[in-house]
Amino acid sequence: MRTLSYSGLLCILSIAPFTGSLAAPSRSHPHKVKESIVPPRGWVKHSIPSADHTIVLRIGLPQPNFHVLEQHLYAVSDPYHERYGAHLSKEEVERLVAPHQESLDVVDEWLKSHDIKEGELVRSPAKDWVTLKIPVSLAEKMLDTTYSVWKHVESGDELVRTTSYSLPENIHEHVDVVQPTTMFGQFKRFKSTISWPEDSETPPQLKAVATASGVTVDPSCNSTITIKCLQQLYNFVGYTPTSKGNSIGITGYLEEFANSQDLQSFYAEQRPDAVNSTFKFVSVNGGLNNQTLSESGAEAALDVQFAFGLAHPIPGTFYSTAGRPPFKPDVTTPTNTNEPYALWLDYVLSHPNPPFSISTSYGDDEQTVPESYARRVCASFAQLGARGVSLLFSSGDWGVGDNNEDPATQECFTNDGRNITRFIPLFPASCPFVTSVGGTVGINEVAVSRFYSGGGFSDYFSRPFYQDKVVKDHLATIPKGTYKGLYNPKGRGIPDVAAQSDRYRIYWRGRAVLIGGTSASSPAFAAIVSLLNDVRLSKRLPPLGFLNPLLYSKGISGFNDVTIGHNSGCGTKGFNATQGWDPVTGLGTPDFGKLKKLVLPFH
Ligand SMILES: *[C@@H]1O[C@H](CO)[C@@H](O)[C@H](O)[C@H]1NC(C)=O
Ligand SMILES: *[C@@H]1O[C@H](CO)[C@@H](O)[C@H](O)[C@H]1NC(C)=O
Ligand SMILES: *[C@@H]1O[C@H](CO)[C@@H](O)[C@H](O)[C@H]1NC(C)=O
Ligand SMILES: *[C@@H]1O[C@H](CO)[C@@H](O)[C@H](O)[C@H]1NC(C)=O
Ligand SMILES: *[C@@H]1O[C@H](CO)[C@@H](O)[C@H](O)[C@H]1NC(C)=O
Repeated sequence: MRTLSYSGLLCILSIAPFTGSLAAPSRSHPHKVKESIVPPRGWVKHSIPSADHTIVLRIGLPQPNFHVLEQHLYAVSDPYHERYGAHLSKEEVERLVAPHQESLDVVDEWLKSHDIKEGELVRSPAKDWVTLKIPVSLAEKMLDTTYSVWKHVESGDELVRTTSYSLPENIHEHVDVVQPTTMFGQFKRFKSTISWPEDSETPPQLKAVATASGVTVDPSCNSTITIKCLQQLYNFVGYTPTSKGNSIGITGYLEEFANSQDLQSFYAEQRPDAVNSTFKFVSVNGGLNNQTLSESGAEAALDVQFAFGLAHPIPGTFYSTAGRPPFKPDVTTPTNTNEPYALWLDYVLSHPNPPFSISTSYGDDEQTVPESYARRVCASFAQLGARGVSLLFSSGDWGVGDNNEDPATQECFTNDGRNITRFIPLFPASCPFVTSVGGTVGINEVAVSRFYSGGGFSDYFSRPFYQDKVVKDHLATIPKGTYKGLYNPKGRGIPDVAAQSDRYRIYWRGRAVLIGGTSASSPAFAAIVSLLNDVRLSKRLPPLGFLNPLLYSKGISGFNDVTIGHNSGCGTKGFNATQGWDPVTGLGTPDFGKLKKLVLPFH
């Protein structure tokens, strides 16, 4: 791999070529279509938004040096590279995603031609995003389009969107994406199946039983997952973090907040040494933290209790980000957006010290996120990785199907007007710069359950080199012709890893419940990453950062391969869990005892 020194980096930045010429005011340039989609399935045109309805327009300017950032990311994430762990600073990353000055000038000129003043603009620290709050009538003029109120037939959700927009010809090469325009995604939490324990209110008393692998796991863990079960299953019984400066984060959306009384009940039952410890609450864009017990979120309870419980005493942060569909098109205040990730990313990218390990249990069907937008969001995840942050995302719960809670109504059709049958990968799990976490059940770690581990192949992102060999090995096991046309064999394979995903015992709204989904796997895995960061930090080594290049190379032997099960969906049995990587459980489940050696140099 090519080595990029810091002086090399500065040099690349200062000589970056630019071929465009500074444009005359955009008024003189005719509009040309920038993006056009067919109306997505399930949505119908409903009405006309009122002219004074405001929207928050986000304009993404090109990042001409993103490929250089990507080279740095892979250098500092490759355990065999001399720069492993030499993460970039916030400022270095910002320089690498900054647009050309010419792009800024041309876009500013265009905004000025519509009487938009600098004071009305909000810019990201790297200036690669410009955000402005304007009446929909002005957006229509700027983008030569007509917005409509669209209605989702099944859910009744409404959005103000358009299926096509244009930009003056001279702006095209200076703008990657403008949203909200064509973004019809329905951002959802992954399914959390909640049930009530049939037995008493006390958890099973664990007695350790030796298993073949040498790790001891209590038989009760086959039906109820507790902190102790995960410590036994993933081989970190008795490990106590000691380093300073470590951190773990959980993202919450859709008005989810975590109730501290529930957390204390959980600690009292399963993590007595953590009783009275708390976490930091961060509200992004006015995200709620209404501690009313009867309104607390099950997802937030699960994420916080297991991530912070497993990682204790590593300091935890919970981000509550406001903004969610359905958008109320008749209200003029633009408090809602359909892209809460963008708001969270704005916040966390502008923060000097984000947590080292962050778990998210939310996502969209990849095809409902416009590709141009998905690429920009994915590029933001790369920025965090380069800065030393490990990002974990649930892979979804319905196997190869869409993120629909009821398999009977699962819709495995393309959104592109062709309406052909297709497996539906989920985003952001499909972004190659994050680590996606699938699910297993039972103490023998199989991939079959009441629901199925999300997995498959991205239709947007091609297979990253780090998984090239293992994915090809798996593809070779699929009988010729199987699922032809249903998936993209050249796409990024999902998930990367797996962890227990069902019957986690948590406290929610004052009582113990069992809850499951890959929603549970991601925070559990994030906690184990946090413990691995402790191993490194206590040796004065930097945190792990972007995990995948490590996991797929020397990390492979630190996983328990899952070889039983499959991930049904779309009326098929989905893919098989096989020896080696598979699009059901990835590389398998973690063995902390092995990984804690593999994350150190000279192993
Ligand atoms: C765990 O539960 C599964 C499914 O209920 C069962 O088939 C398996 O035998 C159980 N394993 C043990 C060790 O109890
Ligand atoms: C937790 O805090 C409460 C209230 O301050 C106190 O009564 C209790 O002893 C504390 N428990 C532990 C284990 O520190
Ligand atoms: C939380 O919401 C409930 C119901 O909407 C309300 O009654 C209560 O005052 C809110 N509490 C806080 C602390 O905002
Ligand atoms: C897409 O195709 C499926 C299966 O043939 C059909 O049930 C559905 O109505 C079609 N949807 C659209 C929007 O054409
Ligand atoms: C999964 O395994 C079954 C049984 O061996 C086989 O019939 C099927 O073709 C396999 N499916 C895939 C997608 O590899």
